[in-house]
Formats: sequence, structure tokens, C-alpha cells
Amino acid sequence: MERKRTGILISGRGSNMAALIAAAAEPSFPAEIALVISNDPEANGLKMAAQNGIPTRTIARKDHASREEHDAAIDEALQECGAELVCLAGYMRRLTAGFVEKWSGRMINIHPALLPAFRGLDTHRAALAAGVRIHGCTVHFVTAEVDAGPIVAQAAVPVLAEDDEARLAARVLKAEHRLYPLALSLVASGRVSLRDGKVAHHGRNAGDTGDMLISPAPPSTESDTVDLEYLARFTP
Ligand code: GRF
Repeated sequence: MERKRTGILISGRGSNMAALIAAAAEPSFPAEIALVISNDPEANGLKMAAQNGIPTRTIARKDHASREEHDAAIDEALQECGAELVCLAGYMRRLTAGFVEKWSGRMINIHPALLPAFRGLDTHRAALAAGVRIHGCTVHFVTAEVDAGPIVAQAAVPVLAEDDEARLAARVLKAEHRLYPLALSLVASGRVSLRDGKVAHHGRNAGDTGDMLISPAPPSTESDTVDLEYLARFTP
């Protein structure tokens, strides 16, 4: 099996990066982590990556004249290491349209909310304020509009009565660490791709999206049938 060389972009803690590195340490995982790039030399994730023997680069905005040049330097580093896929893992800079276009269908991001709800920052605060009972995280293809690309996979977690932002964030983060490797494996293995602005499914069980979500379990076809029959009784 050919493993897809993957670059990870980070800005800080790097816990999702670590989850991807750990998953890719398994020889049967369809992606290998070729490079970790941070825009911040102080990012904790850089140390973690290096400890795991992954090459790292710091490419800071201040060393480049424009956003375009900054992203061009990132693109060059990715090309140099032979990256075929890019994972954004807590990368806190907005990428330029040219970069996003170039990596279209080959770049994914993890967002700490069940999109399309709670785009942007402070998602856990927003979820608590909205009083949702289910919250979670999403991995999506990156498109020009922030946090709006087609969804690859989602994980749901409950919101509990005693939750504050920190407790909820910790529960979601745990789900993120399961979800991101799952989503990367779907994309790297070719089971999921971006086609005409939508997620397309390929291969065996292509119509079965059950493994693209974590908790709650997907409804079975059987229970769908029962529900539809029940509904039909009320249809004039
Ligand atoms: C995660 O919550 C991720 O969903 C968001 O930024 C955070 C990064 O955390 N995009 P880490 O650096 O992966 O620990």
C-alpha cells in the first residue's frame, strides 16, 4: 500500500498533530507524516514532533513580505518533502485563496464544533450559551470560506449540566484525537474525496457513511423503514 505523504500545519499545543503522528506510526495507516510546519517558533507541537522523529520547520509570517509570500514559502516546504496531503491542526492563520485553491481536495482541517454550527473561535463558550445538548468536532475539506468546507467526518459528545468551557473543551478534544486520524485515513485511502464541491464516497461500502461519524451510532436501514411506514400513516 502506498502511504500518502502528509504535512501538518500547527500554531501551538499540537495535541491533534500528536494524535495524527501516533496513528501514522502504525505501518498499515494510509498516511505518513512527512513534515510539521509551525508559523510560531515557540509552538509546543514542534518539540513533540521532533521527539517523534518527524522533520519540523518554522515558517513565520514576519519573515515574509506578504501573506501570499508566507503561504508560498509553506507551499515550497510542502513540495520539497513530497507532501500530497495537508492537515491543519490548530493552525491559527487564515490561508490565502491561492494556497487554498492549490491544495483543494488535499487539505483538511479540524474544527471544535459540529459544523455548520459554531464556526469561528470560542466554540465551546458559544455551545454552552446556546444550550445545545450535543456538541462535538468536525473534520472538513478546506475551502476559501473559513470553517465551511465539505464535511469528511464528525464526532459528537454530550453537553452535561455541570459543564463549564474547560470541561466541555476537554471532552471535545478527546473526541478530536479519535476523529482526526479516522478522517485522515478516509481521505488518504481514497475512500472520501472532494468532487464538484461535495464529498464523494468510493470503494467497498461506498454508501455506508457509518464510519464517518463517532457517537451516536448511525440509524440502521431497518429502523429507517419502520419510521417511514409509521410516517406514511399520517400522510394524506
Ligand atoms: C483544536 O481544538 C482544534 O479543533 C482547533 O484548534 C485546537 C488545536 O489544539 N482547530 P491542538 O493544537 O491540536 O492541541
